[in-house]
Amino acid sequence: MQVIEGIPELRKWIKSESKRDRVLVPTMGALHEGHLSLFDRAREAVGNNGCVIATIFVNPTQFGPNEDLDAYPRQLESDLEGCRSRGVDLVFVPQADEMYYPDRSVEIRENQLSTGLCGSSRPGHFDGVCTVVAKLFNLTQPDIAVFGEKDYQQLAVIRRMVRDLNFPIEVLGGATVREPDGLAMSSRNAYLTKAERIEAPIIYRSLCEVRDDIAEGRLKSGSEVEARLAEKIGRPDFAIIDYLKVVHKDTLEPLDEVERDNYRLIVAVFFGKPRLIDNLGPAL
Ligand code: PAF
Repeated sequence: MQVIEGIPELRKWIKSESKRDRVLVPTMGALHEGHLSLFDRAREAVGNNGCVIATIFVNPTQFGPNEDLDAYPRQLESDLEGCRSRGVDLVFVPQADEMYYPDRSVEIRENQLSTGLCGSSRPGHFDGVCTVVAKLFNLTQPDIAVFGEKDYQQLAVIRRMVRDLNFPIEVLGGATVREPDGLAMSSRNAYLTKAERIEAPIIYRSLCEVRDDIAEGRLKSGSEVEARLAEKIGRPDFAIIDYLKVVHKDTLEPLDEVERDNYRLIVAVFFGKPRLIDNLGPAL
């Protein structure tokens, strides 16, 4: 496995591997089984003759002024071990000054899918995501790119960027990986206190119960669905709901009427300090 920090070396490597199909998995490190499963998905997509490229870069431009960029977990050695264990061919690990000129003046903004949900709570977040992902696409020139479905809105925004800007890249979603009790894996779970960790599976449990209610016709309107979710997920004293929505699965528009196969339940909840996100659609 190659580990490269600089753009000139990366370009050289990409040129030398130009005949092989490439698949990119961008990450911010602090890798857990959810990320590692994306490497498996990437390998499956590209086959043994292709290259799996991971990037580890804690992207400053997607953090807001009140979000603690410095506190974001950094654990490069164990991350590289994780990449190695899942057969990644190249890991690109740039520093911020390698990625951004101090006088940079161009960025990419998606204006529709990124405005609600996490986009409302985190202004500017998706501009940072789109810009860095576009740069990583240009730098690694992948045929395929894989992103986790846990960040459902991010996946939708990136698909839209790829479509609208004609990146010749197929975007694949990787299924959310969960702890045995259903909690979606996230680097933020490490910040939960013992009591919060015990209660945190209520998020996924509530999503599943509401999904069943929709499937069996007990909940039909968007407002009923959201009220039922709020009642369930907001139960622990320390759970503070950031947002909780039922949206159209593709447009992310709020739904007045929920049909059995057109929706996505999306939530962000402060569980004590950490803000946990999760989402669920109809059972296949
Ligand atoms: O999902 C993430 O970890 C980040 O938003 C991404 C896609 C790596 C861009 O920095």
